Amino acid sequence: MKIYNKGLVFSLILVFAAIALFPFLVQGGRVAAKPDPKTDTPEIMQYAQEHGGKKECVESKEWMRGEHMQLLNQWRDSVVRDDNRGYISNTNHQRWNMSLQNGCMKCHSNKKKFCDECHNYLSVKPYCWDCHIQPAEKEEVKS
Ligand code: HEC
Ligand code: HEC
Ligand code: HEC
Repeated sequence: MKIYNKGLVFSLILVFAAIALFPFLVQGGRVAAKPDPKTDTPEIMQYAQEHGGKKECVESKEWMRGEHMQLLNQWRDSVVRDDNRGYISNTNHQRWNMSLQNGCMKCHSNKKKFCDECHNYLSVKPYCWDCHIQPAEKEEVKS
């Protein structure tokens, strides 16, 4: 059999390739659903209730998104080297307990639906949980 228009066939192949690759080109090779970290834990809802409906992190959401890794390193150094566990927020000027387990994870007790939601999407695997205890992922009240 003879292909009567090589140019046309070649163009069609290009078009199909472009369509097939489109999601990869746009998302840099990732096709998983976009992360949607949830901040609706009992601890956060209670905090909001006590603060006029305002949900707050230790710093602004935007800053935390980009800087939480560095902040955690800072916290660890402060506790381990200087034995200082008090962190004064630059955003809300409150004093926070510099602790992964008793600070961050007390509010973000939904590690799977929060931390892992982003980290899995980006294939980041913090090794912290080799030593630090993860929150028990139970929404139901235990007796
Ligand atoms: C008092 C509860 C509380 C504590 C403690 C806390 N967070 Fe948050 N965090 C929140 C809330 C609430 C939000 C969402 C804020 C908003 O919607 O403006 C948030 C947002 C974030 C975000 C951004 C999420 C996004 O959707 O972009 C990251 C990352 C984060 N926190 C990590 C941490 C880490 C790491 C720590 C400890 C260093 C920590 N948080 C401590 C309540 C807390
Ligand atoms: C909004 C998305 C998002 C959320 C929510 C989030 N992270 Fe991250 N995290 C990232 C990104 C992105 C990186 C990688 C940054 C980089 O490589 O520069 C990261 C990296 C880290 C790192 C450094 C790991 C490494 O190997 O360098 C630690 C530690 C960390 N996150 C802890 C946490 C903890 C604890 C929580 C939950 C309380 C959390 N993160 C929630 C996006 C998020
Ligand atoms: C090899 C074990 C080990 C690993 C892995 C580890 N830590 Fe720690 N971390 C410790 C020990 C031990 C302390 C000291 C505990 C104390 O004095 O309360 C500590 C303290 C801390 C503290 C301050 C105290 C507290 O209650 O949280 C932070 C914050 C912290 N680590 C963050 C991290 C983060 C973030 C990671 C992952 C990037 C990580 N650590 C990985 C062992 C570890």
